[in-house]
Amino acid sequence: MAGLDRRTVLAMALGLSACGARAVDAPGEIAPLKSLSPFPLGVCVMTGQLDEPQWTQLAHTHFDRLTPEWEMKAEAFFMNGPREDFSRADRIVDWARQQGMGVFGHTPVWYSQVPDHFTALAASAPQRFRDEYRAYVGRVIGHWRGQLAGWDVVNEPVTDEGSTLRDCLWSQQLGHEGYVIEAFRAARSADPGAPLLINEYNLETNARKLATYQRLIEACLNAGAPIDAIGTQTHVDCELAPGAISATVRELARFGLPVHISEIDVSTRYGDARRQPAIYAEAAEAMAALPERQRFGLTVWGLRDSDSWLVRDRRRARADAPLLFNGAGQPKPAAAALGEALARI
Ligand code: G3I
Repeated sequence: MAGLDRRTVLAMALGLSACGARAVDAPGEIAPLKSLSPFPLGVCVMTGQLDEPQWTQLAHTHFDRLTPEWEMKAEAFFMNGPREDFSRADRIVDWARQQGMGVFGHTPVWYSQVPDHFTALAASAPQRFRDEYRAYVGRVIGHWRGQLAGWDVVNEPVTDEGSTLRDCLWSQQLGHEGYVIEAFRAARSADPGAPLLINEYNLETNARKLATYQRLIEACLNAGAPIDAIGTQTHVDCELAPGAISATVRELARFGLPVHISEIDVSTRYGDARRQPAIYAEAAEAMAALPERQRFGLTVWGLRDSDSWLVRDRRRARADAPLLFNGAGQPKPAAAALGEALARI
């Protein structure tokens, strides 16, 4: 069914449901999720997965946008020294283009990945820091000028506790709001056509963090920062209260900007795993409840359970099944529930 437009796939789903079958959960098969969705559906990717036929077939069938899981971060750019190496991410962008899929950039400015040469620069020549920071963001965003569906320009600016903004080298040198504003300005100059986003996690479960995030966005917008849309990562688990995703998306949408559910996964390590389908369905319903112009899209943070950062990280003792497809690439009830929620939009 790949390649069918949404109307055709919906008609097929309605036809099947009329005779009692649910098109989205025929045993082992579901309709292509991207064909059911009125907004972009994304999944994160790592270059190694491009060599896995099962991964590439599933990803191309169900999703229309890819977010590099680590290859567009400082850790990838500077693995071989202080000059950006874009080759890992280039491979993803090239593959996506061949597949007719979009790529969403993630993320040059993150408190947890400050390149060593910036730390050295702050100590040796702080007067040059701002210019080099702007130049770095400009080189990254400009490398794929006109090619990407958008960028998480700044990631996770709020502390875990939620009342304050994170301290990091960027904030120490340029101010807590300053480094955000400078990054967005440099990004806009480097790629005027790319939607520019800010991105944060735990907004569904930490009201302080959500409020601090909103205050930062407000302050940066008032200072003229070109923030085009707002990301909420949505790394949640099965203890999540019903309605929490919808309330968070609704709250962020009050800026009148598009909202991106940017990294959803639903850990089954906590709570009743039978809640997982309803939580994925709520994410689709939350996006659908927005005006069309505010639906930036929904991105899942991994394809198969075995691909998840929550599973790959062997330090996590307990098993987990946070994604839509199981380790064998078969759709889970969560995938069927997401498909049904999308088909109802
Ligand atoms: O696979 C490479 C290997 O080839 C390379 O030699 C090695 C060198 O360090 O790195 C390996 O890549 C690792 C990569 O995950 C793939 O496993 C990186 O070390 C490791 O840092 C990277 O971790 C990623 C993490 O962000 C840090 O970048 C996770 O995959 C990724 O899921 C996680 O994603 C974050 C979002 O960006 C922000 N929101 C939270 C989310 C989960 O932590």
